[in-house]
Amino acid sequence: MRVLLTGSSGWLGRYLAPLLAQNGHDVTGFDVVPGAHTQIVGTVADRALVERAMGEHGIEAVIHGGALHKPDIVRHPRQAFVDVNVTGTLNLIEAAVAAGNDRFLFTSTTSLMVRADVRAGAGERGAWWTDEDFAPLEPRNIYGITKLAAEQLVRLAHREHGINVVILRTGRFFPEDDDTHTAPIGENLKANEMLHRRLTVEDAAAAHLAALEAASTIGCDGFILSAPPPFTRDDAGELARDARAVIARYHPDAAELYAAKGWILPKVIDRVYDPSRAERRFGWRAKSDFGSVLAALRHGTPMPFAHDPDYVSPILAQERHACTS
Ligand SMILES: NC(=O)c1ccc[n+]([C@@H]2O[C@H](COP(=O)([O-])OP(=O)(O)OC[C@H]3O[C@@H](n4cnc5c(N)ncnc54)[C@H](O)[C@@H]3O)[C@@H](O)[C@H]2O)c1
Repeated sequence: MRVLLTGSSGWLGRYLAPLLAQNGHDVTGFDVVPGAHTQIVGTVADRALVERAMGEHGIEAVIHGGALHKPDIVRHPRQAFVDVNVTGTLNLIEAAVAAGNDRFLFTSTTSLMVRADVRAGAGERGAWWTDEDFAPLEPRNIYGITKLAAEQLVRLAHREHGINVVILRTGRFFPEDDDTHTAPIGENLKANEMLHRRLTVEDAAAAHLAALEAASTIGCDGFILSAPPPFTRDDAGELARDARAVIARYHPDAAELYAAKGWILPKVIDRVYDPSRAERRFGWRAKSDFGSVLAALRHGTPMPFAHDPDYVSPILAQERHACTS
């Protein structure tokens, strides 16, 4: 399939573009910043450029991963989020419909499910169990608001034109340190997040490939992407009180393996992302999970996820370069 991939210079794009190519797809990368997998340098907010890209490259399917995202909030006005994440998505879905494409993938975010009360901690009944039916959606920042608006735009295109639309609400896979947490940090924090809200970038890319290939059987739907948690919904209450006791039931050696590394397990877990619908509907399940983290600790091998405190997103690198030159 001839695929237009936006965000091709970014963290996901640099894994997804080669994976698509290895699987026989002809990928045209589109990003506002140059990169090894980017053939078209420009913004998705430029409607004429988007239309030209679709026509000149004979595009048959779009994977729209390019975006301004949470770390960009401090540097970009809200209008820029609307321009890139909302107008950009509208340009792409309308161009895809006009070109007669039968499928469109939109990389969304679990962040749009984080309301103020979710952010504040566990709910009355324990950890928030967040699946695709979680409602109401009241995103807490401009990133989530514009991603939710973009989701609604692509759903509208499906209703009006029948184009198959797959929305992938992706959990964390960034390699840099978290910009809000303080302790633990680094690999310890990422390892803990593999319990309930993170996946590897390789698994995120694999999910996009699987969704692309299954899109015509999906129709229109949204999916959470995250490593499969070891827990069940029945654990939610205890997770909010004593997560270590729950973890010990599923992984009896976790505490010992962590202690040997000087790491700490979470005392409480206040939300869990449930990715099971993706497995039920298109057969994707993350290969790496918390069990993989423990296996790495047991065998002294590298963690399954990438950790790079010095990672700088392409757009930020470009902005810094512009400031210093
Ligand atoms: N990284 C995460 O943990 C995470 C979590 C949830 C969802 N996501 C989503 O996954 C997608 C990819 O994120 P990433 O981690 O690879 O981020 P990234 O910043 O590394 O990549 C995003 C890419 O989009 C490009 N881009 C920005 N504005 C653009 C524009 N106007 N036109 C064209 N391209 C533009 C950037 O240059 C960058 O290369 C994004 O949609 C993001 O919202 C990421």
